[in-house]
Amino acid sequence: MAPYGAPCDGTWCLKCSASHGSRTSAGFDNGPSTVSFRGSRTRPFFARQWKRIKELRRIQMDSILPLVNTRRAVLKAGAHTQAGSPDGAHAYIDSLMNLELPEGRGKPTDEELVTLCSELLTAGTDTTSTALEWAMLRMVMHQDIQETLYQEICDVVGDRKVEGKDIENLPYLNAVVKETLRRHPPGHFVLSHAVTQDCQLRGYDIPYKANVEFYTAWMSFDPKIWPDPMTFNPRRFLDPGNEVDITGNKQVKMMPFGVGRRICPALGLGTLHINLILARMVQEFHWSCRDGETPDISEKFAFTVIMKNPLQASIKKRSRTLMEVKP
Ligand code: HEM
Repeated sequence: MAPYGAPCDGTWCLKCSASHGSRTSAGFDNGPSTVSFRGSRTRPFFARQWKRIKELRRIQMDSILPLVNTRRAVLKAGAHTQAGSPDGAHAYIDSLMNLELPEGRGKPTDEELVTLCSELLTAGTDTTSTALEWAMLRMVMHQDIQETLYQEICDVVGDRKVEGKDIENLPYLNAVVKETLRRHPPGHFVLSHAVTQDCQLRGYDIPYKANVEFYTAWMSFDPKIWPDPMTFNPRRFLDPGNEVDITGNKQVKMMPFGVGRRICPALGLGTLHINLILARMVQEFHWSCRDGETPDISEKFAFTVIMKNPLQASIKKRSRTLMEVKP
Protein backbone atom coordinates (compact mmCIF):
# COMPACT_ATOMS: atom_id res chain seq x y z
CA MET A 1 0.00 0.00 0.00
CA ALA A 2 1.38 3.37 -0.88
CA PRO A 3 1.78 5.42 2.29
CA TYR A 4 -0.98 7.98 2.57
CA GLY A 5 -0.10 11.03 0.49
CA ALA A 6 3.00 9.45 -1.07
CA PRO A 7 3.25 9.06 -4.84
CA CYS A 8 1.22 6.10 -5.99
CA ASP A 9 3.29 2.98 -6.56
CA GLY A 10 0.53 1.12 -8.34
CA THR A 11 -0.74 -0.74 -5.29
CA TRP A 12 -3.81 0.20 -3.25
CA CYS A 13 -3.51 3.74 -2.00
CA LEU A 14 -5.78 6.47 -0.79
CA LYS A 15 -4.48 8.76 -3.45
CA CYS A 16 -6.04 6.77 -6.27
CA SER A 17 -7.72 3.73 -4.81
CA ALA A 18 -10.33 3.72 -7.53
CA SER A 19 -7.74 3.25 -10.22
CA HIS A 20 -5.68 0.78 -8.25
CA GLY A 21 -8.35 -1.08 -6.34
CA SER A 22 -6.63 -4.24 -5.26
CA ARG A 23 -9.46 -6.18 -3.71
CA THR A 24 -8.99 -9.66 -4.98
CA SER A 25 -11.33 -12.58 -4.96
CA ALA A 26 -8.52 -15.09 -4.82
CA GLY A 27 -9.99 -17.98 -2.87
CA PHE A 28 -8.80 -19.10 0.52
CA ASP A 29 -10.51 -21.83 2.40
CA ASN A 30 -8.79 -21.98 5.69
CA GLY A 31 -8.73 -19.04 8.01
CA PRO A 32 -7.55 -15.46 7.57
CA SER A 33 -5.18 -15.40 4.69
CA THR A 34 -2.83 -12.98 3.11
CA VAL A 35 -1.78 -12.16 -0.37
CA SER A 36 0.35 -9.44 -1.84
CA PHE A 37 -1.15 -8.20 -5.05
CA ARG A 38 1.08 -5.54 -6.57
CA GLY A 39 -0.65 -3.57 -9.28
CA SER A 40 2.60 -2.38 -10.86
CA ARG A 41 3.67 -5.98 -11.52
CA THR A 42 0.33 -7.11 -12.89
CA ARG A 43 -0.12 -4.05 -15.12
CA PRO A 44 1.48 -5.57 -18.27
CA PHE A 45 -0.90 -8.54 -18.08
CA PHE A 46 -4.17 -6.65 -17.71
CA ALA A 47 -3.90 -3.91 -20.30
CA ARG A 48 -7.62 -3.91 -21.17
CA GLN A 49 -8.65 -3.85 -17.50
CA TRP A 50 -6.20 -1.02 -16.68
CA LYS A 51 -7.58 1.02 -19.57
CA ARG A 52 -11.12 0.52 -18.26
CA ILE A 53 -10.04 1.36 -14.71
CA LYS A 54 -8.45 4.61 -15.89
CA GLU A 55 -11.58 5.52 -17.82
CA LEU A 56 -13.74 4.84 -14.77
CA ARG A 57 -11.44 6.95 -12.64
CA ARG A 58 -11.79 9.81 -15.10
CA ILE A 59 -15.58 9.55 -14.94
CA GLN A 60 -15.42 9.44 -11.16
CA MET A 61 -13.22 12.56 -11.01
CA ASP A 62 -15.46 14.39 -13.50
CA SER A 63 -18.61 13.59 -11.52
CA ILE A 64 -17.46 14.17 -7.95
CA LEU A 65 -14.86 16.94 -8.21
CA PRO A 66 -17.37 19.60 -9.40
CA LEU A 67 -19.48 18.85 -6.29
CA VAL A 68 -16.41 19.21 -4.08
CA ASN A 69 -15.56 22.52 -5.76
CA THR A 70 -19.13 23.79 -5.36
CA ARG A 71 -18.97 23.06 -1.65
CA ARG A 72 -15.55 24.72 -1.45
CA ALA A 73 -17.03 27.86 -3.07
CA VAL A 74 -20.01 27.87 -0.67
CA LEU A 75 -17.69 27.65 2.31
CA LYS A 76 -15.44 30.36 0.95
CA ALA A 77 -18.25 32.75 0.10
CA GLY A 78 -20.45 32.52 3.15
CA ALA A 79 -20.28 33.90 6.67
CA HIS A 80 -19.50 30.95 8.92
CA THR A 81 -22.09 29.90 11.44
CA GLN A 82 -21.44 28.15 14.71
CA ALA A 83 -21.87 24.79 13.05
CA GLY A 84 -18.86 25.63 10.92
CA SER A 85 -20.41 26.32 7.53
CA PRO A 86 -22.59 29.07 6.03
CA ASP A 87 -25.67 26.88 5.65
CA GLY A 88 -25.39 25.60 9.22
CA ALA A 89 -24.70 22.02 8.16
CA HIS A 90 -21.35 20.34 8.64
CA ALA A 91 -20.82 18.05 5.70
CA TYR A 92 -18.49 15.04 5.48
CA ILE A 93 -16.52 16.83 2.78
CA ASP A 94 -16.01 19.83 5.13
CA SER A 95 -14.18 17.56 7.59
CA LEU A 96 -12.08 16.10 4.80
CA MET A 97 -11.12 19.51 3.45
CA ASN A 98 -10.04 20.61 6.92
CA LEU A 99 -7.99 17.49 7.52
CA GLU A 100 -4.26 18.01 8.21
CA LEU A 101 -2.32 14.94 7.15
CA PRO A 102 0.31 13.58 9.51
CA GLU A 103 4.03 14.26 9.07
CA GLY A 104 3.43 17.74 7.63
CA ARG A 105 1.90 16.41 4.41
CA GLY A 106 -0.66 19.19 4.34
CA LYS A 107 -4.27 18.78 3.24
CA PRO A 108 -5.70 15.97 1.07
CA THR A 109 -5.39 16.58 -2.66
CA ASP A 110 -8.42 16.74 -4.95
CA GLU A 111 -7.70 13.17 -6.04
CA GLU A 112 -7.73 12.01 -2.44
CA LEU A 113 -10.94 13.91 -1.67
CA VAL A 114 -12.69 12.29 -4.61
CA THR A 115 -11.46 8.85 -3.56
CA LEU A 116 -12.66 9.32 0.02
CA CYS A 117 -16.10 10.62 -1.08
CA SER A 118 -16.54 7.81 -3.53
CA GLU A 119 -15.47 5.28 -0.89
CA LEU A 120 -18.18 6.55 1.44
CA LEU A 121 -20.85 6.47 -1.28
CA THR A 122 -19.98 2.96 -2.41
CA ALA A 123 -19.44 1.59 1.08
CA GLY A 124 -22.75 3.02 2.22
CA THR A 125 -24.98 1.88 -0.62
CA ASP A 126 -23.80 -1.40 -2.17
CA THR A 127 -23.39 -3.11 1.20
CA THR A 128 -26.83 -2.25 2.55
CA SER A 129 -28.69 -2.93 -0.69
CA THR A 130 -26.88 -6.26 -1.14
CA ALA A 131 -27.77 -7.36 2.40
CA LEU A 132 -31.39 -6.35 1.85
CA GLU A 133 -31.71 -8.29 -1.39
CA TRP A 134 -30.41 -11.42 0.36
CA ALA A 135 -32.81 -10.80 3.27
CA MET A 136 -35.77 -10.50 0.90
CA LEU A 137 -34.68 -13.67 -0.91
CA ARG A 138 -34.79 -15.47 2.43
CA MET A 139 -38.29 -14.07 3.14
CA VAL A 140 -39.43 -15.44 -0.21
CA MET A 141 -37.81 -18.83 0.39
CA HIS A 142 -38.85 -19.29 4.03
CA GLN A 143 -42.50 -18.35 4.41
CA ASP A 144 -42.50 -19.55 8.03
CA ILE A 145 -39.74 -17.11 8.93
CA GLN A 146 -41.54 -14.26 7.15
CA GLU A 147 -44.76 -15.09 9.03
CA THR A 148 -42.99 -15.17 12.42
CA LEU A 149 -41.38 -11.83 11.65
CA TYR A 150 -44.70 -10.33 10.54
CA GLN A 151 -46.41 -11.56 13.72
CA GLU A 152 -43.67 -10.05 15.88
CA ILE A 153 -44.09 -6.70 14.14
CA CYS A 154 -47.90 -6.82 14.59
CA ASP A 155 -47.60 -7.77 18.27
CA VAL A 156 -44.97 -5.19 19.17
CA VAL A 157 -45.78 -2.26 16.88
CA GLY A 158 -49.52 -2.67 16.26
CA ASP A 159 -51.23 -0.55 13.60
CA ARG A 160 -48.58 2.03 12.90
CA LYS A 161 -45.55 1.86 10.69
CA VAL A 162 -42.34 0.51 12.22
CA GLU A 163 -39.97 3.26 13.33
CA GLY A 164 -36.30 3.30 14.23
CA LYS A 165 -37.12 3.35 17.94
CA ASP A 166 -38.97 0.00 17.62
CA ILE A 167 -35.97 -1.94 16.34
CA GLU A 168 -34.50 -2.76 19.73
CA ASN A 169 -37.84 -4.28 20.78
CA LEU A 170 -37.98 -6.69 17.83
CA PRO A 171 -35.59 -9.54 18.73
CA TYR A 172 -36.71 -11.86 15.95
CA LEU A 173 -36.16 -9.10 13.38
CA ASN A 174 -32.66 -8.51 14.80
CA ALA A 175 -31.99 -12.24 14.55
CA VAL A 176 -33.14 -12.36 10.90
CA VAL A 177 -30.78 -9.48 10.07
CA LYS A 178 -27.85 -11.10 11.88
CA GLU A 179 -28.51 -14.42 10.18
CA THR A 180 -28.63 -12.63 6.81
CA LEU A 181 -25.27 -10.98 7.51
CA ARG A 182 -23.82 -14.32 8.65
CA ARG A 183 -25.11 -16.46 5.79
CA HIS A 184 -24.72 -13.75 3.14
CA PRO A 185 -22.00 -11.35 4.28
CA PRO A 186 -22.03 -8.54 1.66
CA GLY A 187 -18.24 -8.58 1.63
CA HIS A 188 -16.28 -11.84 1.79
CA PHE A 189 -13.11 -9.81 2.36
CA VAL A 190 -12.53 -6.73 4.44
CA LEU A 191 -10.85 -3.81 2.67
CA SER A 192 -7.16 -4.00 1.92
CA HIS A 193 -5.11 -3.61 5.07
CA ALA A 194 -1.40 -2.87 5.31
CA VAL A 195 1.31 -3.06 7.93
CA THR A 196 3.36 -0.06 9.01
CA GLN A 197 6.48 -2.17 9.53
CA ASP A 198 7.73 -5.68 8.72
CA CYS A 199 5.98 -8.20 10.95
CA GLN A 200 4.73 -11.77 11.25
CA LEU A 201 1.12 -12.92 11.24
CA ARG A 202 0.35 -16.57 12.05
CA GLY A 203 3.79 -17.54 10.85
CA TYR A 204 3.64 -15.55 7.61
CA ASP A 205 6.18 -12.79 7.01
CA ILE A 206 4.36 -9.58 6.10
CA PRO A 207 6.71 -7.01 4.61
CA TYR A 208 6.20 -3.30 5.06
CA LYS A 209 3.94 -1.91 2.29
CA ALA A 210 2.43 -5.30 1.36
CA ASN A 211 -1.31 -5.44 0.93
CA VAL A 212 -2.95 -7.80 3.38
CA GLU A 213 -6.28 -9.28 2.35
CA PHE A 214 -8.39 -11.05 4.97
CA TYR A 215 -10.96 -13.53 3.77
CA THR A 216 -13.52 -13.29 6.56
CA ALA A 217 -16.54 -15.15 5.20
CA TRP A 218 -14.95 -18.51 6.08
CA MET A 219 -15.78 -17.79 9.71
CA SER A 220 -19.51 -17.52 9.00
CA PHE A 221 -19.52 -20.92 7.30
CA ASP A 222 -17.28 -22.78 9.74
CA PRO A 223 -19.15 -25.79 11.20
CA LYS A 224 -16.90 -25.65 14.28
CA ILE A 225 -18.40 -22.23 15.08
CA TRP A 226 -21.91 -22.58 13.59
CA PRO A 227 -23.85 -25.88 13.64
CA ASP A 228 -25.30 -26.59 10.21
CA PRO A 229 -23.77 -23.36 8.88
CA MET A 230 -25.33 -23.29 5.41
CA THR A 231 -28.88 -23.45 6.77
CA PHE A 232 -30.66 -20.13 7.20
CA ASN A 233 -31.88 -20.21 10.76
CA PRO A 234 -32.40 -16.90 12.63
CA ARG A 235 -33.26 -18.81 15.82
CA ARG A 236 -29.60 -19.65 16.35
CA PHE A 237 -29.21 -16.03 17.53
CA LEU A 238 -32.06 -16.36 20.04
CA ASP A 239 -30.82 -19.44 21.86
CA PRO A 240 -29.91 -18.51 25.44
CA GLY A 241 -26.16 -18.60 25.91
CA ASN A 242 -25.55 -18.12 22.18
CA GLU A 243 -25.19 -14.35 22.15
CA VAL A 244 -23.12 -13.11 19.26
CA ASP A 245 -21.32 -9.80 19.36
CA ILE A 246 -20.89 -8.60 15.78
CA THR A 247 -18.68 -5.72 16.89
CA GLY A 248 -16.02 -8.29 17.82
CA ASN A 249 -15.45 -6.71 21.23
CA LYS A 250 -16.42 -9.78 23.26
CA GLN A 251 -15.72 -12.57 20.78
CA VAL A 252 -15.32 -13.01 17.04
CA LYS A 253 -17.67 -15.57 15.46
CA MET A 254 -18.56 -13.54 12.38
CA MET A 255 -17.28 -10.21 11.12
CA PRO A 256 -19.49 -8.74 8.38
CA PHE A 257 -18.35 -5.25 9.36
CA GLY A 258 -14.72 -6.14 10.10
CA VAL A 259 -13.42 -5.79 13.66
CA GLY A 260 -10.90 -3.64 15.48
CA ARG A 261 -9.64 -0.22 14.53
CA ARG A 262 -10.78 -0.38 10.91
CA ILE A 263 -14.24 -1.75 11.68
CA CYS A 264 -16.95 -0.23 9.47
CA PRO A 265 -17.61 3.24 10.92
CA ALA A 266 -21.30 2.87 10.01
CA LEU A 267 -22.03 -0.45 11.73
CA GLY A 268 -24.86 1.16 13.73
CA LEU A 269 -26.32 3.02 10.76
CA GLY A 270 -26.02 0.01 8.42
CA THR A 271 -27.75 -2.40 10.80
CA LEU A 272 -30.45 0.16 11.60
CA HIS A 273 -31.16 0.65 7.88
CA ILE A 274 -31.39 -3.08 7.17
CA ASN A 275 -33.61 -3.74 10.20
CA LEU A 276 -35.92 -0.83 9.43
CA ILE A 277 -36.25 -1.38 5.67
CA LEU A 278 -36.76 -5.14 6.07
CA ALA A 279 -39.38 -4.59 8.79
CA ARG A 280 -41.24 -2.03 6.67
CA MET A 281 -41.21 -4.22 3.58
CA VAL A 282 -42.57 -7.23 5.47
CA GLN A 283 -45.08 -5.09 7.36
CA GLU A 284 -46.56 -3.65 4.15
CA PHE A 285 -46.29 -6.63 1.77
CA HIS A 286 -46.39 -10.38 1.69
CA TRP A 287 -43.42 -11.66 -0.31
CA SER A 288 -43.48 -14.93 -2.25
CA CYS A 289 -42.00 -16.73 -5.27
CA ARG A 290 -43.32 -15.89 -8.68
CA ASP A 291 -45.58 -18.66 -9.99
CA GLY A 292 -43.66 -21.76 -10.91
CA GLU A 293 -40.26 -20.24 -10.13
CA THR A 294 -37.63 -21.27 -7.61
CA PRO A 295 -35.27 -18.51 -6.47
CA ASP A 296 -31.64 -19.03 -7.35
CA ILE A 297 -29.25 -18.51 -4.43
CA SER A 298 -26.09 -18.51 -6.58
CA GLU A 299 -23.62 -15.79 -5.72
CA LYS A 300 -21.58 -13.48 -7.90
CA PHE A 301 -18.46 -11.60 -6.81
CA ALA A 302 -18.87 -7.90 -7.63
CA PHE A 303 -17.81 -5.07 -5.28
CA THR A 304 -19.99 -6.96 -2.82
CA VAL A 305 -21.14 -10.57 -3.13
CA ILE A 306 -24.46 -10.15 -4.90
CA MET A 307 -27.17 -12.50 -6.17
CA LYS A 308 -26.03 -13.89 -9.52
CA ASN A 309 -29.60 -13.63 -10.80
CA PRO A 310 -31.37 -10.68 -9.16
CA LEU A 311 -34.34 -11.51 -6.98
CA GLN A 312 -37.69 -11.77 -8.74
CA ALA A 313 -40.55 -11.88 -6.26
CA SER A 314 -44.29 -11.55 -6.15
CA ILE A 315 -45.53 -9.00 -3.61
CA LYS A 316 -49.05 -8.57 -2.26
CA LYS A 317 -50.23 -5.68 -0.12
CA ARG A 318 -51.26 -6.86 3.34
CA SER A 319 -54.83 -6.19 4.40
CA ARG A 320 -54.03 -4.38 7.65
CA THR A 321 -54.15 -0.58 7.20
CA LEU A 322 -51.27 1.17 8.89
CA MET A 323 -51.26 4.63 10.39
CA GLU A 324 -48.69 6.99 8.94
CA VAL A 325 -45.80 7.88 11.24
CA LYS A 326 -45.93 11.56 12.17
CA PRO A 327 -42.67 13.31 11.21
C1 HEM B 1 -24.73 -3.90 5.64
C2 HEM B 1 -24.10 -2.78 5.71
C3 HEM B 1 -22.59 -2.66 5.76
C4 HEM B 1 -21.63 -3.64 5.83
C5 HEM B 1 -21.82 -5.15 5.87
C6 HEM B 1 -20.33 -2.96 5.84
C7 HEM B 1 -19.11 -3.61 5.92
C8 HEM B 1 -17.90 -2.97 5.91
C9 HEM B 1 -16.62 -3.64 5.97
C10 HEM B 1 -16.41 -5.15 6.03
C11 HEM B 1 -15.67 -2.69 5.95
C12 HEM B 1 -14.15 -2.93 5.96
C13 HEM B 1 -13.62 -3.07 7.36
C14 HEM B 1 -12.14 -3.41 7.35
O1 HEM B 1 -11.47 -3.16 6.35
O2 HEM B 1 -11.63 -3.92 8.34
C15 HEM B 1 -16.32 -1.40 5.87
C16 HEM B 1 -15.67 -0.20 5.80
C17 HEM B 1 -16.30 1.00 5.60
N1 HEM B 1 -17.66 1.23 5.62
FE1 HEM B 1 -19.09 -0.16 5.84
N2 HEM B 1 -20.55 -1.61 5.80
C18 HEM B 1 -21.90 -1.37 5.74
C19 HEM B 1 -22.54 -0.15 5.69
C20 HEM B 1 -21.89 1.06 5.58
C21 HEM B 1 -22.56 2.35 5.47
C22 HEM B 1 -24.10 2.53 5.51
C23 HEM B 1 -21.57 3.30 5.36
C24 HEM B 1 -21.67 4.79 5.22
C25 HEM B 1 -22.76 5.50 5.30
C26 HEM B 1 -20.29 2.60 5.41
C27 HEM B 1 -19.07 3.23 5.32
C28 HEM B 1 -17.85 2.58 5.39
C29 HEM B 1 -16.57 3.23 5.22
C30 HEM B 1 -16.33 4.73 4.95
C31 HEM B 1 -15.59 2.25 5.36
C32 HEM B 1 -14.08 2.42 5.27
C33 HEM B 1 -13.51 2.69 6.64
C34 HEM B 1 -11.99 2.74 6.63
O3 HEM B 1 -11.41 2.96 5.57
O4 HEM B 1 -11.39 2.55 7.69
N3 HEM B 1 -20.53 1.26 5.54
N4 HEM B 1 -17.69 -1.59 5.87
